[in-house]
Amino acid sequence: MALDAQAATQVAHVLTESLPYIRRFSGKTLVVKYGGNAMENEHLKSSFARDIVLMKLVGFNPVVVHGGGPQISQLLKRIGKESRFVDGMRVTDSETMDVVEMVLGGLVNKEIVNNINRQGGCAVGLTGKDGDLIHARKLTITHQGPDLKVPEIIDIGHVGEVASIDKSIIETLTGGNFIPVIAPIGVGPDGQSYNINADLVAGKIAEVLRAEKLILLTDTTGVLDQQGALLTGLDARQVQALIDNGTIHGGMLPKIACALDAVRGGVKAAHIIDGRIEHAVLVELFTDAGIGTKIQG
Ligand SMILES: Nc1ncnc2c1ncn2[C@@H]1O[C@H](COP(=O)(O)OP(=O)(O)OP(=O)(O)O)[C@@H](O)[C@H]1O
Ligand SMILES: [Mg+2]
Repeated sequence: MALDAQAATQVAHVLTESLPYIRRFSGKTLVVKYGGNAMENEHLKSSFARDIVLMKLVGFNPVVVHGGGPQISQLLKRIGKESRFVDGMRVTDSETMDVVEMVLGGLVNKEIVNNINRQGGCAVGLTGKDGDLIHARKLTITHQGPDLKVPEIIDIGHVGEVASIDKSIIETLTGGNFIPVIAPIGVGPDGQSYNINADLVAGKIAEVLRAEKLILLTDTTGVLDQQGALLTGLDARQVQALIDNGTIHGGMLPKIACALDAVRGGVKAAHIIDGRIEHAVLVELFTDAGIGTKIQG
């Protein structure tokens, strides 16, 4: 359908207004964490893929890291296994680890790759095993109960944290104009697979790539206060207070921790934004105000 003259001028305005942002992020690496909870409907999935392709075509360097919590829970339910979480981390026995690897490295990863490619991009899917990308170590969680003398150590199975990242495979791919799409599975010194929270992987990858921004898409408007209102900016001290009084809990705990670590580790900015909004990534990148919660060190 042809645009009338006024509408066409409007389109031209929008395009020229994006120029300063294009200049600002041109050649810069932007790590985008795509949450399982923000991947629930087809329309949003294709608009996310379009955003990534657009970023690439205007000269940005997007790197996608994804989660897949709901998809893992669905498959576990189908085989009759309950999902259990401790501090936002999935308790992962060896059977659950097999499911995590199949769902994240197979189903979810290839769906995102396919969506990006259908929009005209050229994505390549990886787990942390490919190219020896993510080295993991077992994560231990400790709880300090009021009547415990020593902290209780909780074993959550094959759950890992990032020990180190070998970024060469990412650089090889981005150098060849591919878009890396990374599933958060790491490999331990013994060759064992580890399920790593995708936020933690995204934060570390942003650090080692010296990314301009870390953008964490999720299923809320950002970090919310006790009344449910959006907090647009947070520093380390405010974050600690919100954790201490229980306002930040569950899946938001690793998210906020990795955002803080990333900015302390040299990433220029970290944002937690609403992945349920169409083109959320573009709104964040192409407006001064941005959306969601900005985390400062
Ligand atoms: N203060 C808070 N503000 C906003 N959300 C919070 C807060 N505290 C806890 N949450 C929870 O954190 C959730 C987001 O984390 P969650 O791990 O569930 O999703 P995700 O990280 O986007 O997806 P995935 O884990 O699959 O990658 C929200 O849906 C909300 O329930
Ligand atoms: Mg999560």
